[in-house]
Amino acid sequence: MKILVTGGTGYIGSHTVVELQQAGYEVVALDNFDNSSPEVLDNIKKITGKDLVFGKVDIRDKTALTSFLKAQQGIDAVIHFAANKAVGESVANPLKYYENNVGGTVNLLYAMEAAGIQQIVFSSSCTVYGEANPPVDESAEMPVANSPYGNTKQICEEVLKDYSQASEMKVVSLRYFNPVGAHESALIGELPLGVPSNLVPFITQTAIGKREMLTVFGNDYPTPDGTNIRDYIHVVDLAKAHVAAIEYLAKKKYTAPFSVFNLGTGNGNSVLEVIETFEKVSGVKLNYRIGPRRAGDVVQVYASCDKAANELGWRTEKSLEECLSSAWKWEQAIQTK
Ligand code: UD1
Repeated sequence: MKILVTGGTGYIGSHTVVELQQAGYEVVALDNFDNSSPEVLDNIKKITGKDLVFGKVDIRDKTALTSFLKAQQGIDAVIHFAANKAVGESVANPLKYYENNVGGTVNLLYAMEAAGIQQIVFSSSCTVYGEANPPVDESAEMPVANSPYGNTKQICEEVLKDYSQASEMKVVSLRYFNPVGAHESALIGELPLGVPSNLVPFITQTAIGKREMLTVFGNDYPTPDGTNIRDYIHVVDLAKAHVAAIEYLAKKKYTAPFSVFNLGTGNGNSVLEVIETFEKVSGVKLNYRIGPRRAGDVVQVYASCDKAANELGWRTEKSLEECLSSAWKWEQAIQTK
């Protein structure tokens, strides 16, 4: 099978390209390098030893996107990662998020229609659940989103659902919990632009000396140690779930045109537990302080993963220790470049 990956040089996209190629799929990728670099393509090839057809295409450019898809013969399915994901930036610049995340998805669906491609895996987020009672399953209500970023994920799911009911399109929407870690080769990983807003890159950058100190955003939450609880999932486990989703579509295992799955470990860890585990696996004492809460953070969220286990036949394999040791190895590798 031939799979198109949008956002193929991004953090989750690049790991998914690797897993697809290693599982024997032919892969075509596109990206606009807005938050990634062409070097990622060389590094993917170093890992898999396989060629990748690549196009520098911006999904906001409907004409370019449509011609790219039409020019690639025989694409069976698309995995759609291309999007912006910084919550704070989406509050400051909502139009950028609606244009790229929502407008780009609509463009992609038009382009897929023109090229006769009828299967898509969408990159969604646990942010759609807001403040829910964990473990959260897929039937949980979607409250009003607490950021334009979160809203774009909810809107895209609705766009995909409506379109799947009006066409032959089959959709799998994957709701990621907190993706962390890097490929074991340390050739690909997360490359945050500027100051990272996510916990794990901030931890590794502090440990290596790029940042002076990590601030823990609040220790007065109603959790055992007072800090927020999240479900941290290794990016390689996450990438493998996309291969499972493609197989699910190919084997027509779905019962409806739009299916949704949580992708998490099912375990919650507090911010202090993550810090402690990082210190253990790296041997580095982390410089951190307790600061005020960050606006918009939910108290605790972790996934119920039964649906993905039962229907996709997928579950995570890697521990929090492996998540943090691979993130640390990656930070050290990019430091020496
Ligand atoms: C965030 C977004 C989420 C989005 C995801 C994408 C918010 C509220 N949520 O998830 O919608 O899908 O990123 O990557 O922004 N923390 C610190 N100090 C730091 C950084 C983080 O204590 O310097 C804490 C946070 O308060 C939180 C935990 O670490 O409790 C995880 O934070 P983060 O990595 O930003 O992920 P989320 O907030 O869960």
